[in-house]
Amino acid sequence: MIYLDNAATTLIKPASVQRAVLEALGSMASPGRGGHPPAMKAAETVFNCRLAAAELFRVPEPEQVVFTLNATHALNIAIHSLAKKGTRVLISGFEHNSVTRPLNALGADVTVFGQELFDREAVLEDFKKKLPGAQLAVCTHVSNVFGFVLPVYEIAALCRQRGVPLIVDASQSAGVLELDMRRLGAAFIAMPGHKALFGPQGTGILLCGQKGLPLLQGGSGSESILQQMPDYLPDRLEAGTHNVCGIAGLLAGLEYVREKGTEEILRHERRLLAQAREELKDSGLELFTGPEGSQCGVLSLRSPRLDCETAAALLAEQGICVRAGLHCAPIAHRSAETLKTGTIRLSFSPFVAERQLSAACAALRKLA
Ligand code: ALA
Repeated sequence: MIYLDNAATTLIKPASVQRAVLEALGSMASPGRGGHPPAMKAAETVFNCRLAAAELFRVPEPEQVVFTLNATHALNIAIHSLAKKGTRVLISGFEHNSVTRPLNALGADVTVFGQELFDREAVLEDFKKKLPGAQLAVCTHVSNVFGFVLPVYEIAALCRQRGVPLIVDASQSAGVLELDMRRLGAAFIAMPGHKALFGPQGTGILLCGQKGLPLLQGGSGSESILQQMPDYLPDRLEAGTHNVCGIAGLLAGLEYVREKGTEEILRHERRLLAQAREELKDSGLELFTGPEGSQCGVLSLRSPRLDCETAAALLAEQGICVRAGLHCAPIAHRSAETLKTGTIRLSFSPFVAERQLSAACAALRKLA
């Protein structure tokens, strides 16, 4: 099998992740729910995972690292904390449904900025123009459809100048690009655990620059007498039993990323991107690629002759796993004018070898 759907979830994980999940399954109970050894072991693992995430993402205190089910859950907490009906929200032209659907459900007043694919300057200019009057901004760091790296640090600086809270969706960048909570000064940064951090599905992280409002109410293992959630992090935003086995795996995944280094991971993914561009350049496929530095980890393409879903199904028959369609981000497709067709998406990880990508490119050339 050649797995090129890492933007959806990384299937190939470091062996240490599997070992950590199994070990947790047989030895850990619930953190904060007892003083016995299995509960204490769980508490220690969960805390160590907070600590590892805080170090990797330069978060001042580990308590600001909140565990969620996935990035969607994290984004929902962030959005419900900062937006309500009528809130004037600026969102980039590359957001995922996990941003646009909650905002729509709340009845927020949404304005889209920056729909120019791979043009970081134009995105920033449009943001500057539309920022006055905004009460909240939401920006993805990297488009899940096109791998477009948005100018999120520059956007964060403008938000800080104007006192506008910013939510960053780091779903495709966490573990690949530098992500620095101190430098961004964002209100919240949301990310999945199961993509480039190599945790299992069912893990996610919300980095909190402020307390936020609980989306779920329930047991926190603390302040049990109270009928409100505790007012401190992380307990305030973590109701119910933790996904301890998942978090143990995520800790092993974070350790893998720390040891390998995001610079090396990014270098590898960009090498693969350059290789795919080269091997597909005369294939008749339309490739969505940008200038140096504007793209990472993800390559969308389409054929004038073959519909995307059919192409992906034919590739799957040959053991090549890609995603096709609208990738849960219709607004990104509207920006790039691919809403009618969708795209075929190849997405990379450190576990994709160059010879595997070559085989996938050969199959694509044949299809095209
Ligand atoms: N948002 C994920 C993707 O891009 C699931 O496939």
